[in-house]
Amino acid sequence: MFAVHLVSFFFSKLQEDPTKKVDRFLYSMCLNDGQLSDISARFQAEMKKGLSIESNAAAAVKMLPAHVRSTPDGTEKGQFLALDLGGSKFKVLQVKVREGTGIRKGEVEMEEQTYPVPRELLSGRGTELFDHVSKCLKDFLHEKNISLEKKHPLAFTFSFPCEQSSLNKALFLNWSKHYRARGLQGKDMIQALREAIDRTGVLALVNDTVATMMTCGFDDQHCEVGLIIGTGTNACYMEEMRHVDLVEGDEGRMCVNTEWGAFGDDGALKDYITEFDRDVDAASSNPGRQIFEKMVGGMYLGELVRLVVLKMAKQGLLFDGCVSDALRTKGRITTANVAAMEEYKNGLKNTRDILMDLDLTPSPDDCIAVQHVSTIVSFRSSNLVAAGLAAILTRIQQNRNLRTLRITVGVDGTVYKTHPQYPKRLHKVVRRLVPDCHVRFLLSDSGSSKGAALVAAVAQRLASQRQKSLSPFTLSQGQLQLVKARMRVGLEAGLRSKGPSAIKMLPSFVYHRPNGTERGKYLALDLGGTNFRALLVHFKKGLQQKTRLYHKLYTIPLEIMQGTGEDLFDYLAACVSDFLDYMGVKHAHLPTGFTFSFPCEQTSIATGTLVSWTKGFKATDCEGHDVVNMLQEAIKRRNEFDLDIAAVVNDTVGTMMSCAYEDPQCEIGLIAGTGTNVCYMEEKKAGDVETEKMCINTEWGGLGDDGSLDDIITPYDIEVDKQSLNPGKQRFEKLTSGMYLGEVVRQVLLDLTRGGLLFRGHVTETLKTPGIFQTKYLSQIESDHLALLQVRSVLQQLGLESTCNDSMIVKEVCGAVSRRAAQLCGAGMAAVVDKIRENRGLDHLNITVGVDGALYKQHPHFAGILHDTAKVLAPQCNVTFLPSEEGSGKGAALITAVQKREGQNRKD
Ligand code: BG6
Ligand code: BG6
Ligand code: GLC
Ligand code: GLC
Repeated sequence: MFAVHLVSFFFSKLQEDPTKKVDRFLYSMCLNDGQLSDISARFQAEMKKGLSIESNAAAAVKMLPAHVRSTPDGTEKGQFLALDLGGSKFKVLQVKVREGTGIRKGEVEMEEQTYPVPRELLSGRGTELFDHVSKCLKDFLHEKNISLEKKHPLAFTFSFPCEQSSLNKALFLNWSKHYRARGLQGKDMIQALREAIDRTGVLALVNDTVATMMTCGFDDQHCEVGLIIGTGTNACYMEEMRHVDLVEGDEGRMCVNTEWGAFGDDGALKDYITEFDRDVDAASSNPGRQIFEKMVGGMYLGELVRLVVLKMAKQGLLFDGCVSDALRTKGRITTANVAAMEEYKNGLKNTRDILMDLDLTPSPDDCIAVQHVSTIVSFRSSNLVAAGLAAILTRIQQNRNLRTLRITVGVDGTVYKTHPQYPKRLHKVVRRLVPDCHVRFLLSDSGSSKGAALVAAVAQRLASQRQKSLSPFTLSQGQLQLVKARMRVGLEAGLRSKGPSAIKMLPSFVYHRPNGTERGKYLALDLGGTNFRALLVHFKKGLQQKTRLYHKLYTIPLEIMQGTGEDLFDYLAACVSDFLDYMGVKHAHLPTGFTFSFPCEQTSIATGTLVSWTKGFKATDCEGHDVVNMLQEAIKRRNEFDLDIAAVVNDTVGTMMSCAYEDPQCEIGLIAGTGTNVCYMEEKKAGDVETEKMCINTEWGGLGDDGSLDDIITPYDIEVDKQSLNPGKQRFEKLTSGMYLGEVVRQVLLDLTRGGLLFRGHVTETLKTPGIFQTKYLSQIESDHLALLQVRSVLQQLGLESTCNDSMIVKEVCGAVSRRAAQLCGAGMAAVVDKIRENRGLDHLNITVGVDGALYKQHPHFAGILHDTAKVLAPQCNVTFLPSEEGSGKGAALITAVQKREGQNRKD
């Protein structure tokens, strides 16, 4: 007996090392560092392709923006339900996140339950799969005594590729791994889940890589990469927004789910694919797809080993050429087997047991050889992951222009967690491939749901902020109809009223619109929102010849706007004097039109008594006085020149006239600027004056001064009104015009900041300063193309340090406030055009509105929303909006010219 043993011992010593023949057989699976660097470079190119908007459609590696903009910062809190679907286990969880302070992060408590997913559901109808998810969730709620009635916020880890436009909109792209349920492609997974579960608010959907990064980021702030080596494989990382073409905005970072499992689907790995990979792919449920995943993921490693062992056996290289039925059966070697075979001490024994289980009779050499097959297959997997990871780390390093990068990679997945050698091998190769990166690998030992809940917590905070501050600015169609109706009532009441009314409906004594026969040289003075403009207008013969226009702009200092009336008019006279000098027409005694953009009671075209100041003006001793007279007096005081002020007009009237010169259908003038107002051609009686058509300056900004808008006025509006120069007055104007919108925004931001929801709860002096948000800033903030970069820079200019979330909220606040403004103006306009239509007894009215004002002309969305609202609320009117090109001064000059012409006609 002893002799036999001795012989076989010597014999085996003489035989070749069994690992050598495996090395030879599997040489194409053994990748050296050069090859790995090459694969890494290819993956880098794929990432670029996926990120770019031009090449994304054709890219195999989809690089999906995850809409997660920051890693955890400790301010997340809340109680969530969580679903974790797509890994080897389907889990339902309850996650409680308690907020931490300072460097102490909060705490997370979790309770979880694993539920099986029946095989038939994996390939059944998608709705059935979601119904099952819903059933398990209900069971969990029941088990844990959680109320079924309450609406629970929910975080959803969904470990498949989705195209997300936000955290709660995720269009499903395709299945991978062992799932292939039908009918979900292109569908919103949040919606699908909502349809299956009632009373549960789904806040955020995240990929498992993203959730893993967040889980690990909770403990290590350097964690900016998430890696899964489980059933499937995938990685995500924080990319610079400027490279994420698919999402608007350039500022900050966003997590990108690479979906690297699809690397190679376009042939990029052709020369590294072995016949075994091809066989695994051909036998899979998604042939031709997830090529990289099939070389790496736990779902395929056992199968690769089986196919190699089977072929070697068939070639007589193992088991003396014997093959069993079990070895021929798909799925009989699992990844758990692979891990067991490579165990440090028991590996060979495990290998023998596994092979015996497959009805084989392995020799000790067979066991060594099969163990080595396992090693090569799993080593290739970790090497490929190392190559992919090296590409990501290099990209991050280049993005940030760093010589060395310190970063943490959060990892999860059964292969990484259960294979004894895998982590060490992976770490070593990564460090070799990217020696300048100090990489820490952090195992997510609690699964991905903690991270998903952290994402949901941020989403919930944003949602509640939105809800709290923005919902009062949302007006329903019904409310807008009511505003239209109230405007109409206000217009009619103003026309009828002899005394003061909310909407003043001031006769302008402008009866005629220009007819093109106007000519000559005129002076126009234009006192608008904050500027004073002086113009020299020369109407040439006929419409064909261009009008010549020269002008100069004078800003009016605040102390003049709000000083004494005498100083104000002296200042205007000084500006006129300067302009006449500048134009060399000091002694021409030109006929002059005066655009005065405040409510004036007129008894003729050439006189106007200021009713009350509006907007930013509050000069003393002007209200109740004739503004033409005050200007004439100031000119007299200068004793330098003389003017013949033939007409005083409101800016709306000037604008209408100016546009009517281009378009005879223009019978309405609208200003949406510092203030807001409308004038239109009225047919009937205006106040006491019996007239045919006369232009009426509505002064619609006063709507609501009698309380008729109280139901839509928010606490922010009340604050803005209180702090204004004219509390209780111009309530509609304060909801809709440039001088106030920024203030409304500031009030909302103050409130959010005081509540700790914005700017880290830090109320700065700047934020407390009235008037910081000028209309031009609102326009910039809302400008689509510049998006968050612009928001950040505007806020920076204002001395407000903002995070990415802050910028998003500020943009949303601006959007809500300006949207409401535009809708209200649209509702008002609908009332005006319908009134004109009814005045004329028409079923349908075609009409043009001449428009001016910075809000209308410069804001990216205001005009569009205004047009749309007017169209919906006045469906029987076809309204054309014509922006005034040269301001209302030209209109004032035209009125003067018409006045002169009509006067001339009367004389003739
Ligand atoms: C789990 C996570 O720990 O790992 C899942 O909670 C993830 O979200 C999974 O999908 C990946 O590993 P495996 O091996 O289960 O596919
Ligand atoms: C100007 C007109 O173009 O627009 C002024 O000439 C008018 O008369 C002004 O008052 C309104 O816009 P804003 O934005 O300056 O208030
Ligand atoms: C598959 C999925 C991917 C997921 C990965 C790990 O590759 O497509 O979304 O992250 O598996 O679970
Ligand atoms: C204010 C004025 C009004 C003017 C409007 C636009 O509402 O009261 O007269 O037309 O601002 O400038």
